[in-house]
Amino acid sequence: MKAQILLLVLISLTACSSGGAGNSATASSTTVSASSSSLSSEEQTIETLYPPLPYIDATSLKSLADFPIGLEVQVADDIRSIFTVTEQQDLIERHFSELVAGQHMKAPFLHPEEDIFYFEDADALVDYALANNIAMHGHTLIWYFHEGQTVMPDWMLNYDGDWDAMIENHITEIVSHFEGRVRSWDVVNEAVQTVRDTNGNIVAAEYRDTPFYQNLGEDYIENAFIYAHAADPNATLYYNDWALSHNDSKLDFTLQMISDLLAKGVPVHGIGFQMHAWIDHPSKEDIQEAFTKAAATGLQIKITELDVRTAQPYYSGGAVTTQFSAALKLQQKDRYKEIVQAYLEAVTPSQRGGITVWGLIDGESWVNNAHTDWPLLFYNDLTVKPSFYGLVEALTEQ
Ligand code: G3I
Repeated sequence: MKAQILLLVLISLTACSSGGAGNSATASSTTVSASSSSLSSEEQTIETLYPPLPYIDATSLKSLADFPIGLEVQVADDIRSIFTVTEQQDLIERHFSELVAGQHMKAPFLHPEEDIFYFEDADALVDYALANNIAMHGHTLIWYFHEGQTVMPDWMLNYDGDWDAMIENHITEIVSHFEGRVRSWDVVNEAVQTVRDTNGNIVAAEYRDTPFYQNLGEDYIENAFIYAHAADPNATLYYNDWALSHNDSKLDFTLQMISDLLAKGVPVHGIGFQMHAWIDHPSKEDIQEAFTKAAATGLQIKITELDVRTAQPYYSGGAVTTQFSAALKLQQKDRYKEIVQAYLEAVTPSQRGGITVWGLIDGESWVNNAHTDWPLLFYNDLTVKPSFYGLVEALTEQ
C-alpha cells in the first residue's frame, strides 16, 4: 500500500515539476548517486526509501532464499567478462548462489567445429563458481536463436549427415565433460512458437521450425533429454522458453508436450520460465496462473532469465521512454516484487528451481540491443537499484 501511495505522490509531483521526471539516470550513466542537491524531490524520496547502496552494504540476496539465486555472466574475451571486470566477482560471491553463462556454454563456443570441442573458457567459469561454493546452470545444449539470428555453429546449421547421431554426440560430449560440476541444464531452449491470426492475435502454438525440427521432427526434443540424462544421470534437466508466463496457447502447448514426454518416461525434470518481462506485462495474475499450471506437473520450476524491460512498456505502442524516472524506478521495484511473489505463492518450496537474473548491470543487458533500458537490479556503478529492494521485500516476506 505504501508503494502505491508513494507512486501516486511521485507521479503527481512529476507531473507538476518542470523538466520531467526526476533524475534521468540512463543505462549509460556511470553514476546515479548524485549529490542530493541535484536530485529532484521525487528522486530524494526514492533514494531515501531505496538508497543506492554499494552492493557490499546491501542485504545478501542469496541469504534470503533457500533456493538458488542466479546470475547470468559473461566470460572470456567478452567486454563484461568477470575475469577482466573483476570487481563483479566480489558482488557475485555476496549475492548469488548460481551462475549461468550468457554465451560461452552455447554450441558456437563449446562445439565450434564438428570434430572440435572447446571447454577452456567455460571451465574457467565453472572452476571459479565451484571454488566459491556457487553452483552452475548450463545454458543451453539445443537452441536455434530467434529474431533472425542463429546460435548454431555454421557446421551444424549446414549439417547433412545423421542429425540424431550428431546431436547425441554434441550433447554427450558436452554434458559428460561437465558431469558432476554443472548441476542443471537447459537441454532444449525455445522449441515452441505461437501462431497468430491475421489480426496478430495468438490463436495456437506449434513446434518452432528449427533445423532440429526440420531434420528430426519433434523427436529431437525427447532424444536430447535422453542423451543428456545418459551423460549425467544426476543433472537436473530443464526445458526452457520465453513468454510461458503469458499464460496462453504457448504455455498450454508446452505443458502438453512435457506431459507427453513424461508419459513416455523421458527424463525432463524442470520447466524454465525465462521471464523476460515488461514493466506492464504480463499481469501478476497471468504469471501466477502460469506458474500454478506448470507446478501441477510436479516438476522443478525455475525463473531462468529474469529482467524487466522498462523503457518501452508492452502496451506503449512502441513509444520508448528516455528517462529512468523516479516513478519508473518505483514501478520496476514493484514489478520485480510481484513476479517473485507470484513464484513463491504458486511454486512449493520443493519445486523451486531458483530465480536467475539475466545480467548484472543495466548497461550490459541484451535489452539495450533494441533501445536504452534499465532492466536489472544494479546500476552501472554496482550500486543497488529500487528493483533490488523489490526482490529483497518479496524474499523477506515469504
Ligand atoms: O562480447 C562481445 C563484445 O566484445 C562485442 O563488442 C559485442 C559487439 O559485437 O558483442 C559481444 O558479444 C555479444 C554478447 O551477446 C555480449 O553482448 C554477442 O555478439 C551476442 O551474440 C551475444 O548475444 C547473446 C544472445 O543470447 C545470443 O547468444 C546475449 O548476450 C544473451 O543475453 C542472449 O540471451 C538469450 C538467451 O540465451 C536465451 N533467451 C533469450 C536471451 C536474450 O536474447
